[in-house]
Amino acid sequence: MKKLFIQTYGCQMNVYDSARIADSLAPLGFAAADNPLEADLVVLNTCHIREKAAEKVYSELGRLRRIKAAKAETGSRMLIAVAGCVAQAEGEEMIRRQDAVDIVVGPQALHRIPEMVAKIERGQSRALETSFAPDEKFDSLPNMRAEGPAAFLTVQEGCDKFCTFCVVPYTRGAEYSRPVSQIEAEARLLVERGVREITLLGQNVNAYRGKGPDGTLWSLAHLLAALDKIDGLKRLRYTTSHPRDMQDDLIAAHRDVEKLMPYLHLPVQSGSDDVLAAMNRQHTRDHYQRLIDRIRAARPDIAMSSDFIVGFPGETERDFEATLQLVRQVGYAQAFSFQYSPRPGTPASVMRKQISPELKSARLQELQALLMQQQAAFATSCEGLTMPVLFEKRGRWPGQAVGRSPYLQPVHVEQAGHLIGTLADVRISRAMPNSLAGVLTSAHSWPTVSAH
Ligand code: SAH
Ligand code: SF4
Ligand code: F3S
Repeated sequence: MKKLFIQTYGCQMNVYDSARIADSLAPLGFAAADNPLEADLVVLNTCHIREKAAEKVYSELGRLRRIKAAKAETGSRMLIAVAGCVAQAEGEEMIRRQDAVDIVVGPQALHRIPEMVAKIERGQSRALETSFAPDEKFDSLPNMRAEGPAAFLTVQEGCDKFCTFCVVPYTRGAEYSRPVSQIEAEARLLVERGVREITLLGQNVNAYRGKGPDGTLWSLAHLLAALDKIDGLKRLRYTTSHPRDMQDDLIAAHRDVEKLMPYLHLPVQSGSDDVLAAMNRQHTRDHYQRLIDRIRAARPDIAMSSDFIVGFPGETERDFEATLQLVRQVGYAQAFSFQYSPRPGTPASVMRKQISPELKSARLQELQALLMQQQAAFATSCEGLTMPVLFEKRGRWPGQAVGRSPYLQPVHVEQAGHLIGTLADVRISRAMPNSLAGVLTSAHSWPTVSAH
C-alpha cells in the first residue's frame, strides 16, 4: 500500500478538489497518510488569493524538500505534487525553480493526476498540466467517498467578473456550470453514503446556468428545488454568491425551498460606492442593501455573512467609514475580512494610492472588532431557542458531540455521541465567542419567525 498526504489551503472548492484527488488516486493503491513523513506522495493543494496564502506554499515546499532528501538517503522515494491556484498561476516558474517538485497541476486539470503519477513512477522526470478543461475534469472524476454527514458539491467553477483585486478569473478560468443530471447523481450518491447536508459550491455559485434534463438552462434556484426532493437529504446550502447574480427566483427559494438553510454568504467587499466602482464589483451599496431587505422579507431569520477588503488602493477615511456604517446597518451573523493584498497581474496591484500596511492593519482591527461584536450579539440572540443540529463529529469530552445549527454555528452538546450523522433538536443554553452550547430536547420550535 502506498501512502498519500494532502495539505489543503484556500477555499471550500479546494477542499472538494482535494477529496476528489484522494478518490482518483485510490485505484493506484494510495491510502491516506497522517503526515508527510510517512507519505510516498505529498500533494499541496494551494491558494493564490492573497500573498500570505501563496507564501505558505513556498515555506512548506522548503520543509518537504528536506524530508524528501532525507528519505532519498535511506533509499525511499517521495513525490511532491503542487496542485491548485498557485500551480495554475506560477506553474512553469515553479517547475524551473523548485527542483524538488515532481508534478504541477492546475485546478482544472486535476483529473490528470493519476496518469501523471503513473508516468513519473515509470521514469518520466517531471510533469506539468495547467490546461482549462472543466467538463473533462467533472466527466472523468471517479466515484466519490463521503466523510461525515455534511459534504461539499462543486456545481460551478471559474469566474467572469474580473474584480480588479482578484486572481480567481486567471487561476480557475471562465465560468462553467456542471449539467443538472451529473449534480443530481452525485448528490444521490452522497446521500446513499450517509450525507445529510450538501453545500453547493462555486466561485460564483449563483451565476449557475447548467443544462437541465429538459434541455434548457437551469438557474441555481431551479437546481435547489430539484435537489430539495431527494429523500434522505435534510439540508441544502450554497456558497459563494455575487450580489449581481442574486436573481428573484433565488431570493424566493429562501422562502420556498424547504431544505435550504437560513444562512447566506453574500460578499460586499466595501460599503463605499467609489471603492466598489474601482473594484469593478458591478453593484452599488444601495443595490446590495435592497437585496438584503428582499432576502430578509423572504426569510426573516436569515443569518447574513460577507467578505470585506480594507485598504483597497485609494480607500479614504470616508470610504472606510462607509463600510463600517454598512456593517452597522446590515448586522452580520458572521464575516471574513482581509487587508488588501496586491496580486501580480491584477489591475488593482498597479493602481496609484496604495494604502500603507499600518493603515490597513488599523482599519482591519477596527472592522473586525465591530464584526466580532455583531457575531457575539447574534450568538447571544440564539440563547433559549430550540433548533435542529446536524451532528458531525465527536467533541473534546467523552460523550460530547459537535454539530451545526441552521445558521452554521458549531454547537456542542453533551451525551450526544450516539447522534453523530443525524439531526436532533437542541435547546441553546449558552453562546460562546465562536460556538454555542446546548442540551438535547424533544420540543420543536424552529424555525422561529422573529428576525434576528
Ligand atoms: N467569488 C467570491 C470570492 C472568492 S475570494 C466573491 O466574489 O465574493 C474570497 C475573498 O477573498 C473575497 O471575497 C475577497 O474578500 C478576498 N480577496 C480576494 N482577493 C483579495 C486580495 N487581493 N486581497 C485581499 N483579499 C482578497
Ligand atoms: Fe474574484 Fe470577483 Fe470573481 Fe469573486 S467575483 S472570484 S472576488 S473576480
Ligand atoms: Fe484560493 Fe483558488 Fe480558492 S485562489 S480562494 S484556492 S479559488
